[in-house]
Amino acid sequence: MGIIIKSEREITAMRQAGRVVAEILEVLKSQVKPGIKTRELDIMAASELQRLGAKSSFKGYRGYPANLCVSINDEIVHGIPGERVLAKGDIVSLDLGAIIGGFQGDAATTVGVGEIGPEAKELLAATEGALKAGINAANAKARLGDISAAIQQYAESRGYAIVREYTGHGIGREMHEEPQIPNFGPAGTGPVLKKGMTMALEPMLNIGDWRTRVGDDQWTVSTADGSLSAHFEHTIAITDGGAEVLTIT
Ligand code: CO
Repeated sequence: MGIIIKSEREITAMRQAGRVVAEILEVLKSQVKPGIKTRELDIMAASELQRLGAKSSFKGYRGYPANLCVSINDEIVHGIPGERVLAKGDIVSLDLGAIIGGFQGDAATTVGVGEIGPEAKELLAATEGALKAGINAANAKARLGDISAAIQQYAESRGYAIVREYTGHGIGREMHEEPQIPNFGPAGTGPVLKKGMTMALEPMLNIGDWRTRVGDDQWTVSTADGSLSAHFEHTIAITDGGAEVLTIT
């Protein structure tokens, strides 16, 4: 299969999907407060997707049961919304994918519930910064490894561990296309980036160790050592001049 280059028309469709994802994440962020159940966020995501004429990328994907992933504190990714109630001081990753006109958008953000501690605040800033560093390294003529290395350098120089078993990915008609995009690895390696490549970059940073475990629900991925973790994700397109972020409003 290889890496699929998108035409300008296809990227226009991906901009639409990306905008839907970004709009819904904004709505969900505004609803994150102590006392809300994670299931309520999933219900809002479902109704917003429908209102905007989009389908969930996640629901039914390998049997995933929800529209949204909600991962709290030491949970890294793929948390299933349910009866858990958000509490003041929690950090919550919201991950959403939408399909519109046959194309996908995928993004995630991590936010605090009410007032959060300084360690958590720094973790969120570092993870968002690592995503920005990856986006800044993405341009036609760079190599895939340059993105990975930029993310790794940003995160590790600030003392955070990078999750290794889960990666960014190509995206288009499918949520997961080639290539996989690790959040670590050597610069100057891997395929040369070309205009029209579309990918989801998604660094996951832990305060403690990089190791992970999967919960009894077979989905929720947490840090093995129980330390806090954060996750930010954008879908981008490689352009002549650099990278265009598609998951913005
Ligand atoms: Co993704």
